[in-house]
Amino acid sequence: MLLATMANPLIYFSSCTLFLSILIILIKFFNKVWWTPICIQSLMKSQGIRGPSYRFLHGMNFLQWYGPQAQLIITEPELVKQILSNKDRAYPKTKVSSEIKKLLGDGIVLSEGEKWVKLRKLANHAFHGESIKGMVPEMIASLEIMLERWRHRNSKEIDIFVEFKILTSEVISRTSFGSSYLEGQHVFDMLTRMTHIISENNYRAPTFSFIQDSNVAEMNVHQNPEIWGEDALLFKPERFADGVVKATNNNIAAFMPFGLGPRNCAGMNFAITETKLALSMILQRYSFTLSPTYAHCPTEVLTMCPQHGVQVILQPYDHIALKV
Ligand code: HEM
Repeated sequence: MLLATMANPLIYFSSCTLFLSILIILIKFFNKVWWTPICIQSLMKSQGIRGPSYRFLHGMNFLQWYGPQAQLIITEPELVKQILSNKDRAYPKTKVSSEIKKLLGDGIVLSEGEKWVKLRKLANHAFHGESIKGMVPEMIASLEIMLERWRHRNSKEIDIFVEFKILTSEVISRTSFGSSYLEGQHVFDMLTRMTHIISENNYRAPTFSFIQDSNVAEMNVHQNPEIWGEDALLFKPERFADGVVKATNNNIAAFMPFGLGPRNCAGMNFAITETKLALSMILQRYSFTLSPTYAHCPTEVLTMCPQHGVQVILQPYDHIALKV
């Protein structure tokens, strides 16, 4: 058999090429996930810098250290669900620093017990179906302001992150304060500056970790290939075409953009209504592509944000029709 294979140079050559390719892929893989981290670790050790040993695989739940503070990271969907449901009230909100209290205020997000129950009732009332229906005209008016601004742009490249920040500020100003983005711009600018200062300080002092930890754990669940499949890291909105059950391989608790349980997002219906209106009004007028100037650099500023914005190129539909 071996002789017969060797007698056919083409088969012999193909087998060797295949074997070499697999070997190169394996070497590259081990270099990336084992050799390079081990080298960095021993280089650091030789300079007296020590830390927890590198491990390639963590498992779904693991312990990590934030200075002397132990952090149990839970990414197993059923356990996440159980903890966030908080049936026995066994999991209180993490204590936060005074800076974060200043930013978030002494309101619903940080309160507990009777005070939270009262505030949550008010929030649920403010965001129930009928109230949100009443806000739709203000949302549409805010979107029209944005689309009008886009119409007068010479360049068709826009930073959609900046645009959506202005849009959501406009919507919240109009629906909650009977005001406008321009009128409240100073307040929005100050809040943005404050958020940045607190986030930057977090690199020096661990005051902000409660938000970072939940972001990390959530990202872990949202990117787990065992739940989402091998393409977990790809942007593929069509994975939801047949519903969340199918997209999550029967683990609906693994999809929690708005959190889960009693402390889930009180503004979820508000945010979803705004998003649906925005998408339908934009997509009626424009198609878009990601600009070559976009650099993928997600970073934590209270929530996950694109550090250098999201530049997209808009193609107005009337322009496309003229070309055809
Ligand atoms: C796409 C937009 C949004 C996303 C992805 C989002 C996500 C979340 C998440 C994950 C939580 C839970 C945080 C935790 O577990 O500690 C939360 C809480 C909350 N969100 Fe949102 N949110 C969004 C928009 C909004 C909006 C527009 C409002 C109000 C107008 C809002 C109001 C709240 C409130 C009040 C809470 C605290 C609820 C409580 O503790 O009882 N959110 N949000």
